Amino acid sequence: MSEKWEIKDKFKPKDLDGISNQQIDYHFETHYKGYVNKLNEIWEKLPNADRSKANQNYSDFRELKLEETFNYDGSLLHEIYFNGLTSTHSNVPESFKKAVEKDFGSYEKWVEDFKATGTAFRGWSLLVFDLNTGKLRNIGADIHNTNGIWNAIVVLALDVYEHAYYTDFGPKRAGYLDAFMKNVNWNEVQKRLEKARKAYEVFK
Ligand SMILES: [Fe+2]
Repeated sequence: MSEKWEIKDKFKPKDLDGISNQQIDYHFETHYKGYVNKLNEIWEKLPNADRSKANQNYSDFRELKLEETFNYDGSLLHEIYFNGLTSTHSNVPESFKKAVEKDFGSYEKWVEDFKATGTAFRGWSLLVFDLNTGKLRNIGADIHNTNGIWNAIVVLALDVYEHAYYTDFGPKRAGYLDAFMKNVNWNEVQKRLEKARKAYEVFK
């Protein structure tokens, strides 16, 4: 039996401040579900792919393996992204502020760096907890399955592909970056950070 990724409809946010339900609907229904459906299609085909014809220039097996990570990471990061947004706004927790203060100087400097990363890359700005050093870092990614660092746990994911904001902002990405920051689900961010810290304790 092949593996299957479940679509998480409960992660779909609505009534956000500055990001419309229409924008979320296109993004969630077309793009996120598109990654999950393709991942499941790949997982269905992989068990029967001809491994004896594996070839680095081109082979069915290589293409399936290549797109497996693209669609896996696309599914995962979109779930962290959508679950990381909420219409129930809360203050940034003091413990989160302290954590970014330690590695970025201040909360404001972290936001500046996180948004600059979202401007400088084509796909993602990610706050990750680096298990190699125990530090929080902002990582930019042009596509899902490159540019990451090993042993780093994503704490917050900001999708900066055009499909995430064009309905509302057209080419003006800066307005979207501000809207995103207004809707962050700090509860989820905090939970992911605590889990990452525990993993670091085990890992070091
Ligand atoms: Fe996206």
